[in-house]
Amino acid sequence: MCGIVGVTGNDNAVKILVEGLQKLEYRGYDSAGIYVNDQKGNDYLVKTKGRISQLREKITPDVHGSTGIGHTRWATHGVVSVDNAHPHFSNDDRFYLVHNGVIDNFQEIKAQYLSDVPFKSQTDTEVVVQLIDKFAVEDHLDAKAAFLKALGLLEGSYAFLLMDREQPDTLFVAKNKSPLLIGVADGFNVVCSDAMAMLRETHDFLEIMDGEVVTVTPDTVHIQDAAGKTVERKPYHVDMNADETDKGTYPFYMLKEVDEQPNVMRKLAQTYLSEHGEPQIDDKLIKAMQAADRLYIVGAGTSYHAGLIGKRLFERLAHIPTEVHVSSELAYEQPMLSDKPFFIFLTQSGETADSREVLVNVNDAGYPSLTITNVQNSTLSREASYTLLLHAGPEIAVASTKAYTAQIALEAILAKALGEVNGQIIAQNFNVRQQLGLVATGMQAIVDEKATIEALANDYLMKSPKAFYIGRGIDHAVSLEAALKLKEISYVQAEGFASGELKHGTIALIEDGTPVIGFITQAKTAGLTRSNLQETMARGANTMTIARQGLAIEGDNLVLPDVDEMLMPLLSVVPAQLLAYYTSLNKGLDVDKPRNLAKSVTVE
Ligand code: M6R
Repeated sequence: MCGIVGVTGNDNAVKILVEGLQKLEYRGYDSAGIYVNDQKGNDYLVKTKGRISQLREKITPDVHGSTGIGHTRWATHGVVSVDNAHPHFSNDDRFYLVHNGVIDNFQEIKAQYLSDVPFKSQTDTEVVVQLIDKFAVEDHLDAKAAFLKALGLLEGSYAFLLMDREQPDTLFVAKNKSPLLIGVADGFNVVCSDAMAMLRETHDFLEIMDGEVVTVTPDTVHIQDAAGKTVERKPYHVDMNADETDKGTYPFYMLKEVDEQPNVMRKLAQTYLSEHGEPQIDDKLIKAMQAADRLYIVGAGTSYHAGLIGKRLFERLAHIPTEVHVSSELAYEQPMLSDKPFFIFLTQSGETADSREVLVNVNDAGYPSLTITNVQNSTLSREASYTLLLHAGPEIAVASTKAYTAQIALEAILAKALGEVNGQIIAQNFNVRQQLGLVATGMQAIVDEKATIEALANDYLMKSPKAFYIGRGIDHAVSLEAALKLKEISYVQAEGFASGELKHGTIALIEDGTPVIGFITQAKTAGLTRSNLQETMARGANTMTIARQGLAIEGDNLVLPDVDEMLMPLLSVVPAQLLAYYTSLNKGLDVDKPRNLAKSVTVE
C-alpha cells in the first residue's frame, strides 16, 4: 500500500517521478506528491488530493530538479487531505520524507521526543521526519546519522526515502517489511516500491533487506547492514518489457487481464510441463512436500480462494491432507499443527503483509515453505524455502483475475507432480497438460461471449443492491471468489454461499428480484444445487444458472465447455469476472481502482 519513487542524477527527475508514480498508482490513489531539488538552490514541493492525473495538473512548468522523491498514498493515519499527503517535511524545511508502511509507536515517540513540536498533519510519517530533524539539530548529526538514530526507535513497517536540503543529490533509504528496490540506471539511480515503476529507466535492480540503510547518489549506491558493515550486492535483471505494464487499447486493465487468461494457461503448461505432460518441478521441492504429513495453504482475498480449490487438488491428486487458512487469522491464532507441516503461500504480489507475518512465524519455527507468486524477488518469494512463479505477466487492476486462475493451474500441476511420486493412480491418469489446453480453449470461448455476459450483468446485477452466488463443494469455493469480484468493483453487497446452507437462515434475505446465481459444474451435486436455486426462485429470486455443458439443461443462462471437474473453477470464474466487470463499467465506476482499496496490501 502506497507507492514510493526516487531519482538522483537526472535532470528529468519530475517526469521520471510522475511516470513512476503513475505505474504505482495501483498501490494507493487517494493523494500524491513529489519533492524535487535542482542542486542549485531551487526546490519544489507539489502535493494534491486525488490521483496522479491531478498531481500532473498541479505541476507547473517551472517545477524542475535532478533529485527527488514521490509518493502515491493509501491513507492509514489521517484523512485524505493535502496536509496528510506525502512528502512530509520538517518544520525548518530541511528534511523531506516519503513512507510506505505504518509506524506502530508513533504516538509514544511524539509524546516522548516531540511534545513541543507543532505538526501539520495527522500522519505517523511526519513524526519520523520531525524526529530526524530534532536529532540532526540538537545532536549535531549529519542526515545519515540522524536517520539511523530515528530508525533505531521505530516499531512497525516502513520503506523510507529521505532527502536533506544540505545534501541535495543524496537519497537516504531504509526498509522494514515494506518493499523497496534500487534501480541502477545509466548515469543516474532510482528507487521504487516495484520494479514496474522504473522499467523505462532500467531493468537492473538491487534488493534491499530489512534493517539495511542505503545511501544513493547519482553514481553510487552504498548499502550498510544493521551492524554498520558495508554490503556488496549485485543487481538482478528484471526480464519484463515496459510495454507489458500498459493497457494498450483496453479501456481498463481488468478486461485486458481477463482476456490474457488463455495465454497464461498455455504459458504455465509450457513452463512446468514437458511436451508429454510430465511435471518439471524442482526435485528438492517435491521431496520436501513428500516428507510432509499435511499441507497448509495460506493466502488473503482472492489468493485464499485459490487455496480453497488447491485443497481439493492436493487431497484428490496427491492424497495429502490439506488445510487452507486466511493469513490475517493464521498470523495470530495458530491451530494445532501436524508433526510435519509444509506451508504453501499463495500471493500474487508476494508482498501481502498478513501473509508475510505468517511466513515469519513459519521460518522462526523452522518449517519448510513454498511461495507461489507472480512477482520475482518479492518479499515472500525471497523468504520462503522455495518459490514457483506464476508467469502471468503484471496484474495491475485491483481486482485479481489472471493470478487466481494461474494459481489454480499451478496448484494442479504441483498436485499432479506430488501425486505421481506418491504413486496415486488418479494423478497418473490426470493429463494436466491436455486439460490445461482444453481450459485455454474454453476460456477463449467464454471471453468471446462478452456481449451475452454484459447483457446478463445489465439484466441481473445493475439495479440490485445485493446478490448471491451459490454452489456446493468446488462450486461453493468459486462462488466466494465470484462474490468478492462483484462487491469490490461494483459495490453490490454480494455473498458467496454454500447452496445447501441457505435454508438454514440466509434464505430470509431473498426478496422479489434478488439475484441468485448458481454454479453447476459438479455431477455429484448438480441436482441439489438446482433444487436450492428453485427454492430461492419460489421466494422471488431472479435466478441465473451457470452450468457446464455435460450438466446443462434448457434454460440455463450460460453453458461452459466441459473440462475435468477438478479444473472447472478455471472456467466458471471467468463469467463471474466479466459479470463484475460489466456491472462496474456500466455503473460508471473506476473498474481498476475501486474505492477504499489498493492492489498490494502491505499493512496488516
Ligand atoms: O497479492 P496477494 O495475492 O497476496 O493479495 C491478496 C489480496 O489482497 C487480493 O487477492 C485481493 O483480495 C484482491 N483485490 C481481490 O481481487
